[in-house]
Amino acid sequence: MMILVTGGLGYIGSHTVVELLGNGFEVVIVDDLSNSEKFILENIEEVSGKKFTFYPFDLKKKELLSQVFQAHNIGGCIHFAAHKSVGESQEMPLKYYENNLFTLIHLLQEFKDRELSNFIFSSSCTVYGQAEHMPIKEDTPLKVPKSAYGKTKQMGEEILKDFARAYDKKVSILRYFNPIGAHPSGKLGELPVGIPNNLVPYITQTAAGLREFLSIWGNDYPTPDGTAIRDYIYVVDLAKAHVAALKKLLACEENKVIDIFNLGTGRGVSVLEMVKIYEKANNVNVPYRICERRSGDITLAYADVRKAQKEMGWRSETTMEEALKTTWNWQSYLNTKD
Ligand code: NAD
Ligand code: WQD
Repeated sequence: MMILVTGGLGYIGSHTVVELLGNGFEVVIVDDLSNSEKFILENIEEVSGKKFTFYPFDLKKKELLSQVFQAHNIGGCIHFAAHKSVGESQEMPLKYYENNLFTLIHLLQEFKDRELSNFIFSSSCTVYGQAEHMPIKEDTPLKVPKSAYGKTKQMGEEILKDFARAYDKKVSILRYFNPIGAHPSGKLGELPVGIPNNLVPYITQTAAGLREFLSIWGNDYPTPDGTAIRDYIYVVDLAKAHVAALKKLLACEENKVIDIFNLGTGRGVSVLEMVKIYEKANNVNVPYRICERRSGDITLAYADVRKAQKEMGWRSETTMEEALKTTWNWQSYLNTKD
């Protein structure tokens, strides 16, 4: 079966394409390379030993998208393509609403017009905001996200619920917690663009000597060591969850399906703990300084992952130490490319 993967040269998309190919699916990728690079294409082929079709264009170009559906017998879509910088979305909200919502709507229109089903959407734990109770369950009340980025995810979820209901479609909404790590081959990973905002890329660049020190944003949170706690999920485990979600949709005989799954490990890890695990895993030193809290940050978020385990037989398998080791291979590979 042919699966359309939008944003398939990106961080999570590229790992998922490897898993899809390994599970016998054929893949068509649409990616405009706005946040990825062409060498990832060759690396996916090298790592998977399989070929796929690639179209380099912006999904907002509706006519080009239509031609892809015309040319291929698409059996489902995993929609990763989106802009994802929380900070930038506050500066340029229209860029985010336009890209993240128009691309989704264009795809859904093709699905409606061509009577296709099986649509998987990359959502985020950002839709929960600071939840009152841990672990966070899928039916935990959502809060209006603070960032325009987060709002595009919440709006995307609402659009998809209406889509599934009105047109009898099968949809899976996957709420990722904090994806980390790289492919064990060292050939796929998160591409650094400028100064990293996310914790693990920043730790990696600090350990590699590219940054002087890590700023830890606050040690006065009400947590055991005072630093904020998140649920860091290894990207290959996350990629496997997409295959599980797709297989579940394909096996389901009903229509009007809306699956919603948290994808995390179910365990919370503090910023300081992450630094310590990173140092031990890679035998490196990560200098850090304690700084003021970062505006908009929450204290604590980790997932209740029982639903994903029960309903699609998926759970994270990789230890934090193993996951963090892979970032070092990826950084070493990037160093050789420069
Ligand atoms: P990424 O930026 O690495 O990948 C996204 C890919 O989509 C990029 O290759 C980019 O070039 C492409 N793209 C963006 N807009 C496009 C357009 N209009 N047309 C064609 N291609 C386009 O991001 P990622 O980390 O792999 O995230 C994938 C998805 O998961 C996104 O929807 C993101 O919001 C969501 N998500 C990510 C995280 C995270 O921390 N990485 C957490 C939760 C949810
Ligand atoms: C993790 C922790 C920081 C960098 C973001 C998005 C969210 C989702 C995942 C897409 C926090 C601390 C970080 C640093 C630090 N993305 N930190 N020094 O904020 O949980 O979530 O990515 O959907 O929407 O907001 O992830 O990796 O930025 O931060 O101390 O240099 O590390 O304060 O406690 P976050 P993160």
